[in-house]
Amino acid sequence: MSATTEIVTEPILELSGVVAGYGAGDILKGVDLTIAAGTVTCLIGPNGAGKSTVLKAVSGLIKPRLGSIRHEGREIGALSPKARLLLGIAQVPQERSLFPAMSVADNLLMGGHLVKDKKLVRERIDAAMEMFPICARRRHEHAGSLSGGEQKQVELARTLVLDPKIVLLDEPSIGLDPGSRRLVFESVTRLAATGRTVLLVEQNARSGLAVSDFGAVLEAGTVRLTGTGSGLLQDPEVARLYLGATPRPVVPDAGDARHPAAGPRSGRPPRRDHQL
Ligand SMILES: Nc1ncnc2c1ncn2[C@@H]1O[C@H](COP(=O)(O)OP(=O)(O)OP(=O)(O)O)[C@@H](O)[C@H]1O
Ligand SMILES: [Mg+2]
Repeated sequence: MSATTEIVTEPILELSGVVAGYGAGDILKGVDLTIAAGTVTCLIGPNGAGKSTVLKAVSGLIKPRLGSIRHEGREIGALSPKARLLLGIAQVPQERSLFPAMSVADNLLMGGHLVKDKKLVRERIDAAMEMFPICARRRHEHAGSLSGGEQKQVELARTLVLDPKIVLLDEPSIGLDPGSRRLVFESVTRLAATGRTVLLVEQNARSGLAVSDFGAVLEAGTVRLTGTGSGLLQDPEVARLYLGATPRPVVPDAGDARHPAAGPRSGRPPRRDHQL
């Protein structure tokens, strides 16, 4: 299966032959990935495969040594992270990234530091608070006093203050309890419902693929398999390696890609019909 042949809308992001790494070694060894505008794509794969490195290459935290990264047809591989933010490419890192001693409201304000029009920032903060009501309810509290799941929602809301076209989410559900995980996956769906493009890295492969139009399996720095989210969920090899169970119909449950023995957990049904 190839997502490239299935995507019918204009690609918003195209990685071709991307080679990148840290120091002397290459971690990404020729990554090809095409992302259609307005879709959710879930990147899964074993620890150390280079999933976070793919997101860093897209957001500009590392530069590709070879290959190209095109955004709406334009090469962006040499642009700084700030330039890519201004193009509308925003990353929510895996680790907690709020300022814990600042209020939730001030954290949201920080999300708009690159936006000159402060009235626009206030409007976007209001919209983000509407989308993530926890931000309004806890606006005056220190961000560090919120639970992990609540903080992740504030991080997502903060990202919206930049009005990004592409949101890169690195393992947003990691370390969260089942209820918070469900909220995070619902948030992915809500982001997509606003027309944004989401590239999601997930260890909870079942839940990640279930809310995604497309999926890709990264192994040892190359994309080994692509398909629709539902297609990959039902692929016997993907199930054996990453879903921790035999293939089954797409149902709302969640397994842990890193722990094949993990059983199903509560999750969500597919977001919408996949493009074919
Ligand atoms: N800043 C860094 N400096 C040197 N090596 C790094 C750095 N960040 C990551 N690596 C190495 O690059 C490889 C790929 O890391 P990456 O974080 O992209 O993997 P991943 O697929 O996201 O893994 P995980 O599922 O554990 O998050 C690993 O071997 C890792 O040790
Ligand atoms: Mg990672």
